Amino acid sequence: MSDEIFPIDLKAQTLSIQPEIDTAIARVFASGQFILGAEVEAFEHEFAEYCGVAHAIGMDSGTSAIELSLLACGIGAGDEVITVSNTAVATVAAIELTGAKPVLVDIDSQTLTLDPSKLEAALTSHTRAVVPVHLYGCPADMNPILDFARAHQLFVIEDCAQAHGAQYHGKPVGGLGHLSAFSFYPTKNLGAYGDGGAVLTNDLALAEQVRLLRQYGWDANRVSQQKGMNARLDEMQAAILRVKLRRLETWNDRRRELAALYQSLLADVLTLPVEPPETRHVFHQFVVRHPRRDTLRNYLLEHGIHAQIHYPVPIHLQPAYRGLALHSLPVTESAADQILSLPLYPELRNEDVKRVCQMVLSFDS
Ligand SMILES: Cc1ncc(COP(=O)(O)O)c(C=O)c1O
Repeated sequence: MSDEIFPIDLKAQTLSIQPEIDTAIARVFASGQFILGAEVEAFEHEFAEYCGVAHAIGMDSGTSAIELSLLACGIGAGDEVITVSNTAVATVAAIELTGAKPVLVDIDSQTLTLDPSKLEAALTSHTRAVVPVHLYGCPADMNPILDFARAHQLFVIEDCAQAHGAQYHGKPVGGLGHLSAFSFYPTKNLGAYGDGGAVLTNDLALAEQVRLLRQYGWDANRVSQQKGMNARLDEMQAAILRVKLRRLETWNDRRRELAALYQSLLADVLTLPVEPPETRHVFHQFVVRHPRRDTLRNYLLEHGIHAQIHYPVPIHLQPAYRGLALHSLPVTESAADQILSLPLYPELRNEDVKRVCQMVLSFDS
């Protein structure tokens, strides 16, 4: 079928910026420098400035960004880190990589992000950090999370993998906690042509620690002063990200425009995503809820519309991670049965959104 609508079209995005990408890649080849050079340094400055945060450290992935943020705080075996079960597996996998134990709490029924009222019951003498996830591009409710963390001397590490450019109470996400982790996986609002990530922080000592851990704990003489790893962002991806960063605001505005179109055409038909007061949602995903989600999804597919599920199985119910939730997580579990991500990406046309909506409306009639 030629008029299929897919969840994302990265070729269309590349076509729209091809000459600039070609120039950026040629510049890297001409430089002969492929690891930790001028492009990574420039991107780190530009991305930190965009997010209004003092320091950015380029990483090889968002998963490493979470892992190294936790390690920089001294978190590891014997510690507990509170996060959600409604997230990409990466959030929980990164916590486990440090040796710490993830403790999964339930989500708010409106935003589907961490419910701050659930933190108290998850607190133990081993709790060291909270990792709120700004899922789907929607900022988690940070003020009560930060208050709780302050009261119990916990670190807060924002998982910003899906929220480049989102805002909470007038501030960009990424500078609200002690550290934040971004992913530049190709499908993200800001995506590389491969893997990539970044850690952001306003704390110089934490930034230096993350930088050390990123490259074997090396000092200037390549002598390991600490045990570290290879978690470097490469020059090619940094050069590409610099081009795309210049478009991010325009792309996020377009995402918001398309989301508003969906909202206007589907009002009262489905449970629609909410934008909490004083936040800027950047709609990495446009996640609706429907009681007959699977039937609706199949119906859309029969009409050439590909909708995805983020995420079909909550992490605490996946075989590899059973037992990480202290209790059942009713809001997470019921959302997992109903959520459906309708196609949304900046290059999607208004008529495509209208077609998706027509199909959704015809499903219920
Ligand atoms: C919420 C969330 N956290 C963490 C990650 C991990 O990022 P990466 O795939 O770059 O390791 C992702 C991306 O998959 C994500 O969506």
